[in-house]
Amino acid sequence: MIPHSGSVIAIYPGSFDPFTNGHLDLIERCTHLFDKLVVAILRNENKQPLFTVEERTEMMREVLRDHAHVEVDSFDGLLVDYAARRKAMVIVRGIRAISDYEYELQMALMNRRLRPEIETVFLMASEAYSFISSKLVKEVAALGGSISGLVPPEIEAKLVKRFAR
Ligand code: PNS
Repeated sequence: MIPHSGSVIAIYPGSFDPFTNGHLDLIERCTHLFDKLVVAILRNENKQPLFTVEERTEMMREVLRDHAHVEVDSFDGLLVDYAARRKAMVIVRGIRAISDYEYELQMALMNRRLRPEIETVFLMASEAYSFISSKLVKEVAALGGSISGLVPPEIEAKLVKRFAR
């Protein structure tokens, strides 16, 4: 068992490449539910990201600068081991559509098998953001389409710059 210190710490893990308004919406809704939220960027050597972990960390810290109980960190290895090190009892994930469910269920059950004391909590994405994914945002930005309103302005500026011809 993870010792319960009285305050509930939650981890919101992901790739966040890039961070979107869907992620931001979920974080803002989480801050009412938990005492502290650690937004944890996965360090994945097998993926070719658009932004490095350091760039994503910096951008997300800027976007989340006014959220006092939210921390941006990165991790590698097993998520549940990282959660235990951070004394987090909860993993938060967003679900946009039925298509997300199968993958999320597999991960939640595997994580429960690895560390039953850590609970996965799902939040439904707000309707306004349920069609947004990092993958599509990248594709639209790469092809010169508008991503305004899909990502925070700080991230939009970085994306536009990255794809500027
Ligand atoms: O935003 P993403 O890319 O869908 O996030 C996936 C993430 C980071 C939650 C998942 O890949 C993960 O937890 N990776 C860490 C390695 C791990 O613990 N694997 C077993 C999970 S069942």
